[in-house]
Amino acid sequence: MKLKKGFLITVEGCEGCGKSTQSKLLEQYLRKKGFKVVLTREPGGSVVAEQVRGILLNPKSKLSPVCELMLYESARAQHVEEIIKPNLKKGYIVVCDRFTDSTIAYQGYARKIDIKKIEKLNDIATDSITPDLTIYLDIKPHIGIQKAKSESLKDSFKNGDRIERESISFHNAVRKGFVALAKKFPERIKTVKTNPVIEKTQAAVNTEIDKFLMKKKIYV
Ligand SMILES: Nc1ncnc2c1ncn2[C@@H]1O[C@H](COP(=O)(O)OP(=O)(O)OP(=O)(O)O)[C@@H](O)[C@H]1O
Ligand SMILES: [Mg+2]
Repeated sequence: MKLKKGFLITVEGCEGCGKSTQSKLLEQYLRKKGFKVVLTREPGGSVVAEQVRGILLNPKSKLSPVCELMLYESARAQHVEEIIKPNLKKGYIVVCDRFTDSTIAYQGYARKIDIKKIEKLNDIATDSITPDLTIYLDIKPHIGIQKAKSESLKDSFKNGDRIERESISFHNAVRKGFVALAKKFPERIKTVKTNPVIEKTQAAVNTEIDKFLMKKKIYV
């Protein structure tokens, strides 16, 4: 099915909550319904943005909070221009693993950079594109971080990537940020409590997707 204008669906949450797992499952779910779908992620999603991701996640990178913020936003600007915008224009559903809300939660709530300033930078980097729907996967940070670190071990960073190595109080502040955002934007951000059974979380995500499609009057 070809939409006139695509939708941007973002999947957000703390480390190890299951964003990547659920984003992939969501991509398949939407494909089965007949939509054209692109799955992408932040930081990254384009060649240059993936290079910036490498800097951001490498535990050896020493970054000031503002430098870190700007790197996330530069990667985003390129990703939006190269991947997100053209695919929305073509009528695709873009599923993005992390997006602007992560920057508010991590750089705002946890690193304590002024949120108004981050909102401005998000607006510049996205050329004012905002998600049509955001699935926020809620997990207790101490549970998520254990899972995320074991995943990183498989990737390459022992003891977790640069962000996973932050303190538990940092990750609790991130979660506080996501919860506050979900409260502030109840129409856009839908909270899904993660369940230890992946399929149960997936079913809850799909329920939100179906509600969203109904709201948009798309019946498939
Ligand atoms: N509902 C779930 N219950 C138990 N384990 C899960 C669940 N969802 C995902 N996992 C597992 O937890 C780990 C982390 O999941 P995933 O990589 O999808 O999380 P993430 O949010 O993308 O993490 P990161 O923030 O590190 O990118 C993986 O090993 C995955 O298989
Ligand atoms: Mg992931």
